[in-house]
Amino acid sequence: MKMNKIGNAEIHVDDQTLVCPVYEGTEGERAVDIRKLRKETGLITYDPGFVNTGSCASDITFIDGEKGILRYRGYDVADLAENCEFIEVAYLLINGSLPTVAQKARYSSLLNKHSMIHEDMREFFIHYPDRSHPMAILSAMAVSLSSFYPEMGENHTEDVDMKVTRLISKLRTIAAFSYKKSIGDPAVYPRHGLKYCENFLNMMFSSPVNKNPYNAVMIEALNKLLIIHADHEQNCSASVVRGVGSAGANLYASISAGICALWGPLHGGANQQVIEMLEAIHRDGGDVDKVIEKAKNKRSPFRLMGFGHRVYKSYDPRAKIAKALCEKVIASTEKIDPLLDIAQELEAKALADPYFIERGLYPNVDFYTGLTYREMGIPTDMFTVMFAIGRLPGWIAQWMEMQKDHDSRIARPRQVYTGPNARKVVPIEKRK
Ligand code: SDX
Repeated sequence: MKMNKIGNAEIHVDDQTLVCPVYEGTEGERAVDIRKLRKETGLITYDPGFVNTGSCASDITFIDGEKGILRYRGYDVADLAENCEFIEVAYLLINGSLPTVAQKARYSSLLNKHSMIHEDMREFFIHYPDRSHPMAILSAMAVSLSSFYPEMGENHTEDVDMKVTRLISKLRTIAAFSYKKSIGDPAVYPRHGLKYCENFLNMMFSSPVNKNPYNAVMIEALNKLLIIHADHEQNCSASVVRGVGSAGANLYASISAGICALWGPLHGGANQQVIEMLEAIHRDGGDVDKVIEKAKNKRSPFRLMGFGHRVYKSYDPRAKIAKALCEKVIASTEKIDPLLDIAQELEAKALADPYFIERGLYPNVDFYTGLTYREMGIPTDMFTVMFAIGRLPGWIAQWMEMQKDHDSRIARPRQVYTGPNARKVVPIEKRK
């Protein structure tokens, strides 16, 4: 997390000049350090959504939004998706290096060892209404893990490995159990002989009357889908995980908060919204032009879901991988999916439209992932859960980095107050 000082910037306020250090990261990102601004000048910055504000220095993930580059610990996401399994990338994000054969074998064995959840916790599912959104269950169960493993709920660094491994393995089990609950099927327990992704697909799709209804294409697709979701620097949910952790809350509570942030339709919930948008277009006779015009209409709150990004003003590199995966999974099912045709037409027309070109609006990670999950038999309301399972190692890595960062302080932004000036309480009988 070391930044190099490359010079100074001056801020002139009235007759005062504040000299602020300017730092540069290893990929050329430069930042002005304004930590003395309020104390020296009385001014604060105003930056809704923190579009221009760096919250930390981080070694984990690098994004170049203009060039469409995404790297985890220096490795390009496409290189990792092509050459690694998801648990190798989880290990990389959390430990800083890819595992050796022996380290991967131990990690895989630990993930299997801790894949079950406490039977009392499994009982929780009985009392959720059938139509509970699985993200609500996932968040509640994540924080409840600190009740079942209180010794792990504390921030003892020596336990981090166990705490982290437990979380990565059990959240996947909880996700599959919440799906089975939603369809009224009995839970299918994890099996030690299966690798991470196959274990998940088995828990999701096997049943007492149907063993292993998944294939190698689905296992490969799930590994790659989880890899492209694994981290994305200081996105909304990662910032929430860091923020909750900065108050000293334990890892499980911080992750639970991150799951809730990801649920938002503008963030991780977009993959579910994309499918609902494509299904609505299909029902409406496939009129893509009408939807594009609606997305451009400033009087309408409608946005083209799966398009646009705070950082990428070019094609999201993850969307390229997801699009290829989507086409491969659909081809393997030998089915024709009208929604894929609609998505491809929507993409082509939007990318040729000046409104989208001028604003740097391209498909993001959510545009094709929902279609792929749908082809794998994963229901729409589980799409954001899949995003959470993929993003979990990234959240954990961000949380752990914040714990070790000497610059880290409790997250507490300031504000510009625009409310009433001081006034006295009027007795209620005299109020108008
Ligand atoms: C994720 O941060 C991350 O890294 C997130 C994520 C991750 O891995 O963690 O990448 C995951 O959240 C991906 C994004 C998923 N969300 C969606 O697909 C929802 C649809 N997209 C938009 O809501 C929007 O693009 C955001 C929320 C993603 C980004 O919003 P910004 O950065 O605040 O952009 P903006 O609102 O400032 O938009 C700039 C302009 C505006 O028009 P003008 O006011 O300049 O005329 O672009 C327009 C916006 O109206 N615009 C869109 C649009 N997205 C932006 N217009 C139509 N459709 C869209 N999708």
